[in-house]
Amino acid sequence: MANSSSGDGMTERLVRVLETFTPTRTVQTAAEIGRRADLPSSTAHRIVADLVGAGLLERDDDNGIRIGMRLWELATRSSAALRLRQAAMPFMDAVQTRVREHTQLAILEQDEALFLERLSGPRSGANITRVAGRLPLHASSSGLLLLAYADRGTQDRVLARPLARLTAATPADPAAIRRLLAEIRARGQAVAPGFIEDVSTGVAVPVRDGTRRVIAALSVVLPREASPEPALAELHRAARGIEAALARYH
Ligand code: PHB
Repeated sequence: MANSSSGDGMTERLVRVLETFTPTRTVQTAAEIGRRADLPSSTAHRIVADLVGAGLLERDDDNGIRIGMRLWELATRSSAALRLRQAAMPFMDAVQTRVREHTQLAILEQDEALFLERLSGPRSGANITRVAGRLPLHASSSGLLLLAYADRGTQDRVLARPLARLTAATPADPAAIRRLLAEIRARGQAVAPGFIEDVSTGVAVPVRDGTRRVIAALSVVLPREASPEPALAELHRAARGIEAALARYH
């Protein structure tokens, strides 16, 4: 492992190496990893070699480095996210079968919507979400839903930052977003027409735990012109099913 004056320094370097991987950048050379992690080349090569040795990274035939299956295995094992995903899968499948559009499950993670699962049919339309990918809270139905039920500190922090306008319809004014969040809480659902892509409308409903705390957003991405009501009815039904399934795990 890399020489380092403190254990924290070593951990921090490892995290920097792992964080150079993104949903769209899944294969890199050791030199690219070093550059993106801002590490000296020799340090980067040594850390990468150690991680490959431990199975946390894998090297392909062209010397490309990928996240290793061992890291996936360790990260997935007995996590709360896995339990939620497993409880949700049969109900997401039912929504996907009936609505025939992309169906997603997201949680609030470090001020973004992190997608745990996405089911898509062969004829589902556009969708920019990726499993293990993230979307901004203010610009997606899942994100707004999660923000609406987040604590006040999270809402204030997110709305104090510059809010990117991704389409002409993206809400980017904090006061307008606060009104939107109140409406989402009053209706128990979020509708985001063209907020992140002109061609799509996202619709999302809350999934709650046994204490009624909102733990996830269940959503469907519809073509912009589609009526959101049938999808919302399916999502509410599925959310109740997921909540009952989670209660049975206790
Ligand atoms: C949304 O949740 O609002 C959403 C997500 C992905 C898309 C479009 C809309 O591609």
